[in-house]
Amino acid sequence: MQAKPKIYVTRRLPDEVINWLGDHCEMDMWESEETPVPYEELERQVEEVEGLYCLLTDRIDASLIARAKRLKVISTMAVGYNNIDVEAATSRGVLVANTPGVLTETTADLTFALLMATARRITESSEFLRSGKWKTWSPLLLTGMDVYGATLGIIGMGSIGEAVARRARGFNMNILYHNRSRKPEVERELGAVYADKRTLLRESDFVVLLTPLTPETRHLIGREELRLMKNTAVLINVARGGIVDEAALYEALKNNEIWAAGLDVFEQEPVPLNHPLLTLPNVVTLPHIGSASVKTRMSMAHLAARQLVDALNGKMPAHAVNRAVWQKD
Ligand code: DGY
Repeated sequence: MQAKPKIYVTRRLPDEVINWLGDHCEMDMWESEETPVPYEELERQVEEVEGLYCLLTDRIDASLIARAKRLKVISTMAVGYNNIDVEAATSRGVLVANTPGVLTETTADLTFALLMATARRITESSEFLRSGKWKTWSPLLLTGMDVYGATLGIIGMGSIGEAVARRARGFNMNILYHNRSRKPEVERELGAVYADKRTLLRESDFVVLLTPLTPETRHLIGREELRLMKNTAVLINVARGGIVDEAALYEALKNNEIWAAGLDVFEQEPVPLNHPLLTLPNVVTLPHIGSASVKTRMSMAHLAARQLVDALNGKMPAHAVNRAVWQKD
């Protein structure tokens, strides 16, 4: 009987996924659910394995990949893969796979939830009540911004952007979008209007960031961009923290240059509790839970496992981000 391929899993996964992987592979796993595997431990573990199952919290850089002499595939349980040096993987013939698709609607739900919560000051209002500050109904008490009929600007019109636009239609929103390429079918079907970045920032009541983090999108929203936004506008980031210059965002919010921000992601995660953004009442913060429904996280976990095993069996995974690795053969 052929030996099972050796893999390393960087976090404790749900039992049914562990069992499934165990049927197909000889596996080692970082047993904790709550702490990421230390980089030094990962360095040690990758030396012997053919497959690596990782999360977005793991830094899979060129030096780590160089140590993994037997590695054939890296499968990440995420759609974003900015934590993986794909170029280094490609140059060493290592396939990288991610999990798009299964999280689209769940992430769009959360995007809309965060947008609504920020616009209508939901967390602030709840805290207001619980801390005993609610003395009476008052005309302008905790008033927010209308979502219905407002203009939504989506930066990054991928599948999650489209799913957010579909929800926005139900709120009768005007939809602007900015993307590397135009999407005629989205324009036709969802009535979204393409805009250059400056126009989108100037005209939107809500700016939603849904672009991947790349060297080109790092600090895509900085001081200058925030200045273009309306002072009644709301910024929503559910993509990656690095897309926003947080120091510039803090200044813009503090100086009322924009009205509020809803953030599911941060440049450093977990965000340090003394981070200036956490001191502002007009910021709604979440711990990177965009895709966190039970069903979707299970789908992501299974999909990442399936792709790892597929690749180890010589089958191209459904979502390889560097398919050329095999096409060269
Ligand atoms: C991803 O998959 O990249 C999200 O940020 C987490 O679901």
